Amino acid sequence: MRVRAFAKINLSLRVLGMRPDGYHELRTVFQSLALHDTLTFERSREALSLTCDDPACPVDGRNLVWRAAVQVWRAAGKRRGPRGVRIHLVKRIPMQAGLGGGSSDAAAAIRALGRWWGVNEARQREIGARLGADVPYFFEGGTVLGLDRGDLLFPLLDGPPSWVAVAVPPFGVSTAEAFRWLDADSIRRPRTGRPTRASCLNDFEPAVAARHPEVAALVRRLRRDGASVAAMSGSGSAVFGLFARRADALRAAQNLPRRLAGRVIVSRTIDRDAYRRLACK
Ligand code: C5P
Repeated sequence: MRVRAFAKINLSLRVLGMRPDGYHELRTVFQSLALHDTLTFERSREALSLTCDDPACPVDGRNLVWRAAVQVWRAAGKRRGPRGVRIHLVKRIPMQAGLGGGSSDAAAAIRALGRWWGVNEARQREIGARLGADVPYFFEGGTVLGLDRGDLLFPLLDGPPSWVAVAVPPFGVSTAEAFRWLDADSIRRPRTGRPTRASCLNDFEPAVAARHPEVAALVRRLRRDGASVAAMSGSGSAVFGLFARRADALRAAQNLPRRLAGRVIVSRTIDRDAYRRLACK
């Protein structure tokens, strides 16, 4: 069985404050992209194995796919460690980029293994929510408003289809690290609840750009090159620009200086129907 795990961007991301459980209260709009990883599941007679075409990607308990498999196995009431499946991951979504790759892979694995091992969709969603705050979104897809930890979801009307230039800087940012930077900066300069700058769609952007000025430079370049919207995605480090026409997205992508963006990807948004059709078969 082969399944696709699509990337997301955050069209906006507001961090509204600290919650009693130590997480941050978020208000974000997620949007699916056609860019995807591919997971292949093969029956085997042995203990769970996970391989990946990208040597930089961990293939043990640090990988959310592995943790998803363990959780689904347990939820199915099976004993000891998971077995009987070999999973191969073709990694196309850059890691530590704010594009949701790890969370999307986890949701894809939960859906596929849930079906194999007889775990219903409600339980699958519970497992997803425990694995990470972004995972529940990947059970929906399309344009979705996320509240609470980003996991209380309200599907929105799909926006107009867009071409997306994604600039991936040569460094990654871990989500936990980005939250620490944000907290450190807001102690020094308390947030007012209003966006830092009217043009800044992502509250993480100033905190990440203060440590990695490339991020702000990429947003400026994409805006100058005609993006209708340009922002950092999630907790970074990737920056995206939206374009109505493919040619414009390609031109903007080509113009990005290589010292700012190690990798540039041109993709397009996908709506909920397409997501459902392609990811949730
Ligand atoms: O849920 P996820 O594993 O993606 O989160 C990684 C880390 O980011 C959490 O351990 C937490 O420190 C932080 N986080 C947060 N508030 C959120 C989501 C994540 O503080 N809404």
